[in-house]
Amino acid sequence: MQHQLLSVIYIIASVLFIIGLKMMGNPKSARKGNLISAAGMCLAIAGTIFLHEGEVSTIVYVLIFLAIVTGTIIGWTTAKRVQMTKIPELVSMFNGMGGACAALISLIEFNHLYTANPAAMEDPVPAAAGTLICIISGLVIGSVSFAGSIIAFFKLNGTLEKPVRLPKYNYINLAILALVVIVSTQLFLSGSVALIYVLLALSLLYGVMFVFPIGGADMPVVISLLNSFTGVAAAFGGFLYGNHVMLTGGILVGSAGTLLTIVMCKAMNRPILQVIFGAFGTHAATASNDAKGNVRDISITDTATLMNYSKKVIIIPGYGLAVAQAQYAIHELQTILEDHGVEVKYAIHPVAGRMPGHMNVLLAEANVDYEKLCEMDDINPEFPTTDVVFVVGANDVVNPAAKTDPSSPIFGMPILEAENARNIIINKRSMNAGYAGIDNLLFYDPKTSMLFGDAKSVITRLVSELKQM
Ligand code: TAP
Repeated sequence: MQHQLLSVIYIIASVLFIIGLKMMGNPKSARKGNLISAAGMCLAIAGTIFLHEGEVSTIVYVLIFLAIVTGTIIGWTTAKRVQMTKIPELVSMFNGMGGACAALISLIEFNHLYTANPAAMEDPVPAAAGTLICIISGLVIGSVSFAGSIIAFFKLNGTLEKPVRLPKYNYINLAILALVVIVSTQLFLSGSVALIYVLLALSLLYGVMFVFPIGGADMPVVISLLNSFTGVAAAFGGFLYGNHVMLTGGILVGSAGTLLTIVMCKAMNRPILQVIFGAFGTHAATASNDAKGNVRDISITDTATLMNYSKKVIIIPGYGLAVAQAQYAIHELQTILEDHGVEVKYAIHPVAGRMPGHMNVLLAEANVDYEKLCEMDDINPEFPTTDVVFVVGANDVVNPAAKTDPSSPIFGMPILEAENARNIIINKRSMNAGYAGIDNLLFYDPKTSMLFGDAKSVITRLVSELKQM
């Protein structure tokens, strides 16, 4: 009876995960979707603890509750305090913890397997082939994900800013990967306790070496890929315990992470195979300074006048909008321009900002109508008929070098084709580079005017000017 009840709870929890994930696809329902998925997770955890069959000692319950309370306090306070722009770091840290859990489960279950069943030591393959495969896969994938996520965390917070590339690092990485496969096979055949620790060390090393050479603009792809690794590692845990909800959760994370990786690879024009073999981000991130020309300034009053007498304005938001927290101000600018009869749209690049959907979430927070947000492929044909394109705190996502300069680290990345608009106004604080660390040829375009200053203060002053027109 207890077992059946637990199965029903797991099915309900799995359905809640799926509904929640579906709702996260739209900013309007995303918050509710997140809560629904969290409710599913609480249900699954409670069911597992209270409907577990067999004897569980009190000390184990005490330890479980202590772990839950500690984890909840740390997770809650960190997530509450973190700034929106630091979310990718938080995601990589949380993801690393998931990978570490999967690896620890494998280590513990490996020991259980041989303590509970000494015969398995004699002949490990027939005794526990399926279990061993799950243990080894969970250990390798979980460790790679843990070590890689920690390196990604330090890269994102600036501690390991520059990519470190050993000579022929690709071959070194492939050699480590080959060693992982050889040791895994040997472990599968022998069940040697010493080998599992060798495998753990090699997998951690591979995780570090896999992420170390990758730099700058490719980091989001790595995090999403590592996220899918963690999902797959958790799914192996589900197989190991015959736990359906763990399996469903792992598969959902694994497939969602994989899909996101593919979508981002497409957006940044990085072939997926290059990502998997760690062979990307190999261009030196040097600025191409040779094409520099003069830049033109524009005043707030002139910008307001130009926008006021335009038929159509497209706003391109980027990372700087998030830094300045100018989402409410930009919404006010949109509203006042519309009141003055100007058509306003937002052009959203898939990797604008620092996390997938960053601009969508930011603008949704300020109640910008979702219908106003246009995806890159839909909006690019509209630039030639646009009077003013207003680039706010965006840089790499409008850099024409992605199309024209094969030596550029972002060459091949599809961009928002702002250069085709009749007038381009770029708001940022200085001539500093964006995330990829390269100069932007758009700044020197004869149609471009630079409106220097913090996005929030500039937009607020623009709104005041427009109110008087
Ligand atoms: P970036 O290329 O990073 O440029 C942002 C610009 O905002 C900077 O040049 C900066 O110039 C300006 N800025 C900063 N603070 C500002 C403020 N308070 N007011 C006004 N401007 C400000 O941003 P992007 O165009 O959004 O491109 C995103 C980049 O990040 C891409 O290279 C992408 O590959 C990478 N990336 C994306 C993600 C995801 S998934 N979205 C994750 C990690 C990395 P000043 O300093 O001169 O003001």
